[in-house]
Amino acid sequence: MMRRKIVAGNWKMNKTPSEAVELINTLKPLVANDDVDVVFCVPAIDITVAVEAAKGSNIAIGAENMYYEESGAYTGEIAPAMLVDAGVKYVIIGHSERREYFAETDETVNKKVLKAIEHGIVPIICCGETLTQREQGVTIDFVRQQIKIALQGVTADQAKEVVIAYEPIWAIGTGVVATTEQAQEVCVAIRACIAEVYDEATAEAIRIQYGGSVSAASAPELFAQADIDGGLVGGASLKPDFGAIVNYNK
Ligand code: 13P
Repeated sequence: MMRRKIVAGNWKMNKTPSEAVELINTLKPLVANDDVDVVFCVPAIDITVAVEAAKGSNIAIGAENMYYEESGAYTGEIAPAMLVDAGVKYVIIGHSERREYFAETDETVNKKVLKAIEHGIVPIICCGETLTQREQGVTIDFVRQQIKIALQGVTADQAKEVVIAYEPIWAIGTGVVATTEQAQEVCVAIRACIAEVYDEATAEAIRIQYGGSVSAASAPELFAQADIDGGLVGGASLKPDFGAIVNYNK
């Protein structure tokens, strides 16, 4: 089975609403590629204008986070229904920066994943080890645990639609990209974990991205790996380079 590639930008805390419109207008012609699903995950305040600016293009808009309750007294949070109504199709869940700075845990990640699925938003579930964990030889154990907890209560049919982003923390924003062998090895392990939890068909269907210092130079080799189905791109998603990353196969 051929999985369709998915390349997503994670803008993180960058771009005001007017800058967001400008960037989307610049990137729109550059990210056209019928072979790839293209997603721009933008700050919450940019979502409405980003959806409008992306109309008529192949760009789907995603959020960078959401809360797991329907509504209520949760000052500062964004509910899944708000995202859906605004036109959001994807949501990044459990990015390492949210785990590190905003106290997200595997348990909150799991709640958010379940809520996103319930609302028809595709979760992009992030996992990945620290440099210390890699040096200690526990990378695969750690990532397996993150994935297994994130997917508690998710059915096989639902799991087929989710996206997993393997992002080694030591490769994020450092310019130190994982080698293709390192990235492929962990993506294979994640797929094997999915096969264990569910079955082969689910493991074959699920899309696994690599993230961490992806550039126009590194994307073609990374995305050519059998188990790497695209990328989650930070810094380079804010530049025309993102067009080259999306068109890694041209
Ligand atoms: P960089 O591409 O800037 O390393 O960021 C990766 C990332 O965290 C995407 O979610």
